[in-house]
Amino acid sequence: VPAVRSLIAGNWKMNGLKAASSEFDAMLEGATELSSGIDLLVCPPATLIAAFADRLAAANEKGALAVAIGAQDCHANATGAHTGDISAEMLADAGARAIIVGHSERRADHGETDAIVRTKAQAAWRAGLVAIVCVGETQGERNAGHTLDVVAGQLAGSLPDGATAANLVVAYEPVWAIGTGMTPTAADVEEVHGFIRQTLTQRFNAEGDQMRLLYGGSVKPSNARELMSVPHVNGALVGGASLKASDFLAIAAGC
Ligand code: G3P
Repeated sequence: VPAVRSLIAGNWKMNGLKAASSEFDAMLEGATELSSGIDLLVCPPATLIAAFADRLAAANEKGALAVAIGAQDCHANATGAHTGDISAEMLADAGARAIIVGHSERRADHGETDAIVRTKAQAAWRAGLVAIVCVGETQGERNAGHTLDVVAGQLAGSLPDGATAANLVVAYEPVWAIGTGMTPTAADVEEVHGFIRQTLTQRFNAEGDQMRLLYGGSVKPSNARELMSVPHVNGALVGGASLKASDFLAIAAGC
């Protein structure tokens, strides 16, 4: 298993007002103590990206931190008549360095297909950003024994050609584990992550070996260490527990 830097990413989802900046500041403060092999990414709602980028820039003046800010979605186009949408270029301009695309909540709530997710990943690249592409099965699909087929289909459909270890992160988030407190066993995570690694290596060769694979779904301080020690798990995509600096930092400290 090649050594890859760990990435702990926080997806704030539709949570966070300006007052939450103090929580972000606490994350920046805590990041100074993390081991050097760990990158942190905070994906607040789009309304907070620019303000957080300013705070990060100020913190970096005192000493460079391995912290970046990301977004949770983007439109596939760069500009145009798309009321309410935000382009990858706009997110980059606001200070984002990565964009989560294809989260199961967007696939379910906004009817995003693999083809749509693929165009969004390409939009992230067009803007010079990292695409974090999410895949994962529902409870029904797992019960029916279809987990690997579902994940294979999502990877084939959602990942554009030209992915590299620098521009792509894949997050495995079993839908049934998101926000439920339930997590797959370490053996189940190992099976799926091993399968994802194999698939990426077959398609993207040496780049596929180095791509970061995140596990997401009810990651918290008490289970992070075990989940992060599974082969081919290179970090976490954290929802609820990423809203509190103490929890988020404890998860990062556990990997
Ligand atoms: O994108 C992260 C997410 O879906 C996991 O959420 O709250 O189960 O950590 P949560």
